[in-house]
Amino acid sequence: MTERPSAGAFKAFVKKHAEPVEQALRDLLPLAAVQPNTLHEAMHYAMFPGGKRLRPMLTLLGCTATGGALAAAMRPGAALECLHTYSLVHDDLPCMDNDDLRRGRPTCHKVYGDAMALLAGDALLTLAFEGVSAAGGAAVHALAKASGSLGMVGGQVEDLAAEGETDQHSIERLTWIHDHKTGALITASLLVGAHAGAGQKTLPVEILDLLRGYGDRLGRAFQIADDCLDMTATATELGKNPGVDVALGKLTWPALVGLETSLETARSLADEAASLAEQVVSAAASWRGVARSSLDGAVQLLQDVAFYAVERRT
Ligand code: IPE
Ligand code: IPE
Ligand code: MG
Ligand code: MG
Ligand code: MG
Repeated sequence: MTERPSAGAFKAFVKKHAEPVEQALRDLLPLAAVQPNTLHEAMHYAMFPGGKRLRPMLTLLGCTATGGALAAAMRPGAALECLHTYSLVHDDLPCMDNDDLRRGRPTCHKVYGDAMALLAGDALLTLAFEGVSAAGGAAVHALAKASGSLGMVGGQVEDLAAEGETDQHSIERLTWIHDHKTGALITASLLVGAHAGAGQKTLPVEILDLLRGYGDRLGRAFQIADDCLDMTATATELGKNPGVDVALGKLTWPALVGLETSLETARSLADEAASLAEQVVSAAASWRGVARSSLDGAVQLLQDVAFYAVERRT
């Protein structure tokens, strides 16, 4: 067996940029004391302290992997985290997954009530578009496509529809659900970062397509791992209740093919992503007219995050 990487470069990247990402989030959210203060408190409650902050980190990576300057991606990255956090607040509502633990604390609706949690989610969703506008029209378009009925919301609809189904269970159906409910936003995080870093320049379609290919595999690997962790991790590790997928009769990878095959699939998707990382960065270097070696660090980071998506325990 070949030795797998340890995601050390990505972990160091996260450590370095964690505080600037938190600052960008604090800058984007209205203060909790601003009227209507209960709404703003509920938004802060859902957002701070956060989870892994994977999506803003991917926005930063999308920017750096295409040769952009990171500062341009901070506010757009915060926007991605707002969109993601809204999706979690709504995902936990009694009418959806009915969860009472998120990010190590009672879910937003358990503390603020269903109506306030619904509205806090709505407000985070719209705030995301305020934040991403800093990266220009192409970034706004990418986020809108990824988060709406043809993206995350559509995936959530099919995720709910597949609950408790005893027939029509297929890998194709589940892959469609994962690509939409999770992968779309993961890919959009990278694309938004690339657009932010490109500034007034228009990114070549070839680079966008390569980033999409990388993001699609990363998104699939990430959600397969999420499904597996639901069966193998503890509430302390996850900050959310394990075992809910089985309890709700969710269509998941381990339910279809078992844990071992699920993890093998996730690992091979991560390997595919890792080889696409090379291509993304090579295409970006020639577009920017810089030496490919000047972006070596970005290749390593993209490869590390793919590995991390599968091997994580949180
Ligand atoms: C959870 O996302 C929802 C999924 C798409 C699987 P994360 O695992 O990234 O949650 P946080 O942001 O770290 O809390
Ligand atoms: C949620 O998938 C995907 C979202 C769009 C929020 P899950 O329902 O599996 O996410 P968790 O496990 O509750 O975080
Ligand atoms: Mg769900
Ligand atoms: Mg859920
Ligand atoms: Mg889950």
